[in-house]
Formats: sequence, structure tokens, C-alpha cells
Amino acid sequence: SAAEKGGYDYFMLKEIAEQPKAVADTLLGRIDASGSLTLDEVRIAPGALREVDKVVVVACGTAFHAGLIAKYAIEHWTRIPCEVELASEFRYRDPILDARTLVIAISQSGETMDTLMALRHAREQGAKVLAVCNTNGSTIPRESDAVLYTHAGPEVAVASTKAFLTQLVACYLVALYLGQVRGTKWGDEIRAVVRDLSRISEEVEQVLETMEPVRELARSLASKNTVLFLGRHVGYPVALEGALKLKELAYMHAEGFAAGELKHGPIALIEEDLPVVVVVPSPKGRSVLHDKIVSNIQEIRARGARTIVIAEEGDETVVPYADHLIRIPATPVLLQPLVATVPLQVFACELATARGNEVDQPRNLAKSVTVE
Ligand code: G6P
Repeated sequence: SAAEKGGYDYFMLKEIAEQPKAVADTLLGRIDASGSLTLDEVRIAPGALREVDKVVVVACGTAFHAGLIAKYAIEHWTRIPCEVELASEFRYRDPILDARTLVIAISQSGETMDTLMALRHAREQGAKVLAVCNTNGSTIPRESDAVLYTHAGPEVAVASTKAFLTQLVACYLVALYLGQVRGTKWGDEIRAVVRDLSRISEEVEQVLETMEPVRELARSLASKNTVLFLGRHVGYPVALEGALKLKELAYMHAEGFAAGELKHGPIALIEEDLPVVVVVPSPKGRSVLHDKIVSNIQEIRARGARTIVIAEEGDETVVPYADHLIRIPATPVLLQPLVATVPLQVFACELATARGNEVDQPRNLAKSVTVE
């Protein structure tokens, strides 16, 4: 009913708008006044966490994209090797797991059969399993050694939005906590990022307030057949998520590529007026990557692409090459997906509406896939 949708036309719009709160709620009570993480609810002893020598993330769909981003954070802040695998592939390749492996199973519903089967397999091999889940008491957390709940509240729209942002927050918390427990050399950086995380929900809010041009752009592209997405580093999974949203909601051909792969194939797809969304990394920090992406934008534009550039405020180098520029607030490099994903959700939702599609219940999809 209209009341359930809180005045919005679709649950998805309501859930996109709820993201600042979902992010804040997922952080609530997990960072103490001194800026340390307190994840007591993760019932795996610090001693056992110090023994972990490999992390494996398993998930499906949008949750898998959260896992891809988690890998960058986990490896950077903990120096523990981390693999990310589609849950549906994981157990069929006889993965190498033992008591020192920490498996993180990410699932909004907690009922996805592929993810459940992957974690059962992991536990049979003696690995410890930590669930990152949005649904209290669901099967995946019940069958895991520990759980870190995301506090997105119920997500009704089939296409995941607020659950994804809170999965990212939970994964950052796990990565930072592992770093804290293990005392890596990144101590100062970890404390700074924890501070930045506590401000991030305001930045998500700021993005939401500037989305009208993105909606207009989406409407103008309603008759297109294809949209490509490019990103690098944590922007690469963001590109994959942007493409997935467009497939799910707009039923358009959409693909995400690592921008560095452009020259190894995807550039052959570029033709006159093809919309290409590019997620630009911060010019600070990984500045080498930033400059490489700017050359990618120049290359595709020279071949006729219509460039839709998502870049940090204050990043002026992209301006001459952007047919459309979407600004996001500056964040620490690893946290950028929390703000960069939001315009892509709005973009897909508006395109779906413009194409007359059912936003909350896309054809052929289910909110939770409980069969293998
Ligand atoms: C379905 C949904 C996706 C979701 C995926 C994983 O395919 O349509 O939106 O990302 O399942 O769901 P989970 O509940 O495990 O996060």
C-alpha cells in the first residue's frame, strides 16, 4: 500500500532514501567514544581471529559485489589474503579451507541457497564462518559460527539498495576490526577511517539531495539498448553493481568492466553516442589510477562515447571530458563505493520507470532465491 511505501511510488525509492539511516544504524554501538571498534557480538575469540591466515568471502548477486569491495579493505588493513567467490561456484571446485580460514558469507535475506550450501561446505572443512546478514534469525546466521547483522531494516524491493550499503559498512567494520585485533601497521589509518565512517551517512544524504540531474539523464537514455560501466580498484565492483542494477530494473544490456581492461577488448564496443558510465577514483591516494582513468575517458570519448562521469567534488581534471558529470563527496579511497553506488541506483530506478517497467518486482527475479 501507499502507506507502506512511506509516500514513495516504489519501495525501491523509499529504500534508496533510507540509506543514510541504514548506514548510521549499522555503525551504531559498534564504535566507542575512543574510536575503537567493539564487535563483541562477533563471537569468534580475538585469539582465533589472530590465527586466521586466509579470508574467503562467498555471496550472490549484489552481496557478491559487496564482497568484491570487502577484499580491498580486508587485504589492505589486515594483510590477510582474501578471495571472493560466487557462492554458486565455491564448493564445486574443491576449495582449500582449514581451521585458520575465515569464511564471510554475505546475504541480505539469510536464505539464499547457494550461499547456505557454500557455508555448510566451509564448515565441514573446519573453517570458521562469519555471516553478514540483514535478517535476524534466518538460516545463514543460524548455521554460522558468528554473525554481524546489518541494520538496514526490511528490504522489500527485489533489487538490493540499502542492504548493499550496509553490507559494505559491515565489511569495512570486519576489516577494520581484524586490523585492530591483529595490530597491523595501519593503526593510525584505521583510526582515521573509523572517524570518517562515522560521518559517511551525512555524505550519502548529500548525494541523495543532488540526484535530480541523474534522473533527468536517465529519462533521456530510456530508448538506448546498451550502457557500459567502467571502474578501477573499488570502483570496479561499483561498475559491476551499476550494470547489474540496470539489467535487473531496466532490462537493458549493461556490462561493467575494469577500466584497465578497456584496451583488451571492451573498447571495440564503443560507438557513436554509446552511454558509458565511468567511476573515477579519488585524485588523492591512488592518484596513478586516477590519471589512468582520465586517459580512458579521453580514449572512449574520442571514439564517440557519451561519457557519464562520477567524480569527487573538486576533481577538475575530468571536466573537459565529461558529457555528464555526477559529483560525489570526497571520502577515503576505500570508502568511495558508499557514495559512488547511490547515483547508479537512482539511475537504474529512473530508467526502469521511464521504460514502464515494474520497479519493485522486475520480471523473472525473486527477492530471495531459495533453490540452487
Ligand atoms: C537475489 C536478489 C538480489 C540479491 C541476491 C542475493 O538474486 O534479487 O538482489 O542480491 O539474491 O540475495 P541475498 O539475500 O543472499 O543477499
